[in-house]
Amino acid sequence: MRLNETPLLSAEEIGRRVAELAAAVSADYTGRELLLVAVLKGSIVFMADLLRQLTVPATVEFIRARSYEKTRPQGPIEFTYFPERPIAGKHVLVIEDIVDTGGTAAAILERFTADHPASLALCALLDKPARRETPVPIRYAGFTIDDHFVVGYGLDYDQRGRELPDIRILEQE
Ligand code: IMP
Repeated sequence: MRLNETPLLSAEEIGRRVAELAAAVSADYTGRELLLVAVLKGSIVFMADLLRQLTVPATVEFIRARSYEKTRPQGPIEFTYFPERPIAGKHVLVIEDIVDTGGTAAAILERFTADHPASLALCALLDKPARRETPVPIRYAGFTIDDHFVVGYGLDYDQRGRELPDIRILEQE
């Protein structure tokens, strides 16, 4: 794995932006209790940093999604892990690391809508609109990035690179 030496997003930039997102989420959900549903595995670092800065009470669940066909990411999605407790009547905020084609986030929002949450919104650290195939409403977006494959801050390439504190572009081998 060869990474660009200059971070696309430094740990400091990420930290500042996550604080802004946490402030916006806290303001919007004042007086309500939030349920954060983190999309495994890439969003765990982002979710942990966001969670610690919320000023509204929040519970946490996880979901894991996978494309049936690896070669066709825009194909059907299956959920290999699903929240343990019902989301009906809850104010649900889905936490994604990155919205790329949009297929994963769209499938999660569609599936959750069927369970009648009190409200449902999406928060994504990164938005890569150049590759969007399925439109998806991102209520809270950290950064919009160009069409690069990135790793770090929880995001991986073949399970590697999640431990990096900043976000770096994967160079073509
Ligand atoms: P989508 O369904 O195409 O929007 O893809 C969503 C998932 O693909 C993300 O949650 C990531 O796990 C993965 N992904 C997409 N782009 C990147 C990237 O640049 N780096 C790491 N993972 C990515």
